[in-house]
Amino acid sequence: MAEQSLYDRLGGVNAITQVVDRFSDEIIKNPKLNVNPQLAKWNQSGRLPALKFMRTLWVCEIAGWPFHYTGKDMHSAHENLHLTSDEFDKVGKEIAASLGYFGVPEREKGEVLGAIIAHKGQVVNG
Ligand code: HEM
Repeated sequence: MAEQSLYDRLGGVNAITQVVDRFSDEIIKNPKLNVNPQLAKWNQSGRLPALKFMRTLWVCEIAGWPFHYTGKDMHSAHENLHLTSDEFDKVGKEIAASLGYFGVPEREKGEVLGAIIAHKGQVVNG
């Protein structure tokens, strides 16, 4: 039998949406992710529901089907935020914590985090 996709192993859009929902809320509440003035301002903008939707699509796509992410490329989406390497790593910790909260197994957790880290060079420019 063919190996299931990461998308299926994670539990599909329902499971992915829950993970994104949780880490997105935790990022907004994290005081260390409210020091950067661009980020602090964005966090108060009321645009989080749409960002959760876009992040969910992005994770679904890299996990292999069936939704296509059609938003901005990772450099354009973040360039105005001037995110530092340290801020990126703090977001990575929130994502890992959310995957852990929902009991995502180590292998799948590693695959999701690996895909995120692979884009670090496009996201960080602070
Ligand atoms: C590889 C890691 C990351 C991925 C995959 C990712 C994913 C995304 C996606 C899909 C969007 C939406 C783009 C659009 O609207 O077309 C976005 C925008 C955004 N991301 Fe990220 N992101 C990452 C890292 C980060 C980090 C480290 C932060 C820091 C808190 C962050 C904060 C934001 C914010 C605030 C926006 C909204 C920008 C705007 O409204 O113009 N992201 N990201």
